Amino acid sequence: MTDICDLIDKDGGTQKSAIFHDQGIYDLEMERIFARSWLFLTHEGQIPNIGDYVRTMMGEDEVIVVRQRDGSVKAFLNACRHRGAQVCAAEAGNANIFVCPYHGWGYGIDGSLRAVPLEKELYKGRLDKSTHGLRVVPLVESYHGFVYGCFDSTAPSLKEYLGEMGWYLDVWMDAAGGAELIGPPSRSILNCNWKVPSENFVGDTYHVGWTHGAALKALGAKPHRLGNRSLPDGDTGLQITTRHGHGLCVGFDGGPGMLGAVAPDILAWQAQNRERIERKLGSLRTRFYGCHINSTIFPNNSFLWGTNTFKLWQPRGPGSIEVLTWTIVEKEMPEDMKSRIATSMNRLFGSAGMLEADDSDNMESITQLSRGFVTRQGRVISQMSKGDDRQVPGMPGVVGDCAMGETAYRGFYRFYREMLLAGSWDEIRAGDSVWSDELLSLTLQSQSVERRK
Ligand code: FES
Ligand code: FE
Repeated sequence: MTDICDLIDKDGGTQKSAIFHDQGIYDLEMERIFARSWLFLTHEGQIPNIGDYVRTMMGEDEVIVVRQRDGSVKAFLNACRHRGAQVCAAEAGNANIFVCPYHGWGYGIDGSLRAVPLEKELYKGRLDKSTHGLRVVPLVESYHGFVYGCFDSTAPSLKEYLGEMGWYLDVWMDAAGGAELIGPPSRSILNCNWKVPSENFVGDTYHVGWTHGAALKALGAKPHRLGNRSLPDGDTGLQITTRHGHGLCVGFDGGPGMLGAVAPDILAWQAQNRERIERKLGSLRTRFYGCHINSTIFPNNSFLWGTNTFKLWQPRGPGSIEVLTWTIVEKEMPEDMKSRIATSMNRLFGSAGMLEADDSDNMESITQLSRGFVTRQGRVISQMSKGDDRQVPGMPGVVGDCAMGETAYRGFYRFYREMLLAGSWDEIRAGDSVWSDELLSLTLQSQSVERRK
């Protein structure tokens, strides 16, 4: 029996290596995290017309996401109600009906069972088709066009689940004119646990100058970024964690990095847009526009602004994931600019991207080494900047003072632990009003314990 309390410190500051490769923990994650969290499905722009669909995964459950006749979006399990065969094999397309290849049962785009071969002759009026539609994902909602689904009908709304993270997301998802994805997504398999890229994107700017040093040098990055020799001059950015394990790192030191170096017109376009955002949101929030941001929406949906990649880390057992990669762009950008950004993103973070390959080596080694019986009993740490976390008036969440820190790691793993322990969303809700105080006071307690030693 897994002792969850032993896996993760209460403040998220250390984790037992077993979490990166253990079938029992993985099964619990499927039940308590993936069957209860809001999971990214698609962007509305990927399924604009009635009958447009994509096939994707929610945890290990395969689903079809379909645009309905009334304009809404629904999602269904992609498993036939007769004997469970896969109903839809294509990754995306447009359909009037989904027909199971095994015995030919046909389902409408609303998931209802419409046609059963030889129904009259074989079932003789005894099959109630109205109760044999595809199983529905009970909650599907869109946040500024980004569509998420949740299997747990007692979960908070998507807006509540994103919570204070929305304060940051809305800068570019809303005030800047909105964002969209360029698809279809590229797909690749990585031999790593789903949490390793999720934690990397939620809070790891520390690795950038080291892991990506050679690639950044080739791309002409500023010298301070190479080999982690020094922090940037001036503003060193922020780490932020918000309720429900979401988080981001922000580097304010100068525009969309690699893209800006080759495309001054992108910088100019964003400078113009910045004035509009400042009028709407004020100067504090406008700082979060047009800078480097890495982020994870808990549990497995990550993105980077500045290098414009949008990722979904789909679990495939404890030691493997399928990576889905889209380019994320601002909706109102000229088409030519969007297409240059997509080329640049694929060069860096596509399946064979320069930076993707650097990261993949680390993600696979962390996972595969954690199979070792002795290794997995040990603990890894996310304690950088612990004790300096604080709350900033007017800025939601718990904030760390430098983009290179591990504040967002701790928020991610604190909530991961909370979800594994909680029996229901009601139990999780009970922690809503105290989570940040708890995170801060735990941090301070740990600091004082360390000082006593
Ligand atoms: Fe689908 Fe039989 S399993 S029709
Ligand atoms: Fe990286």
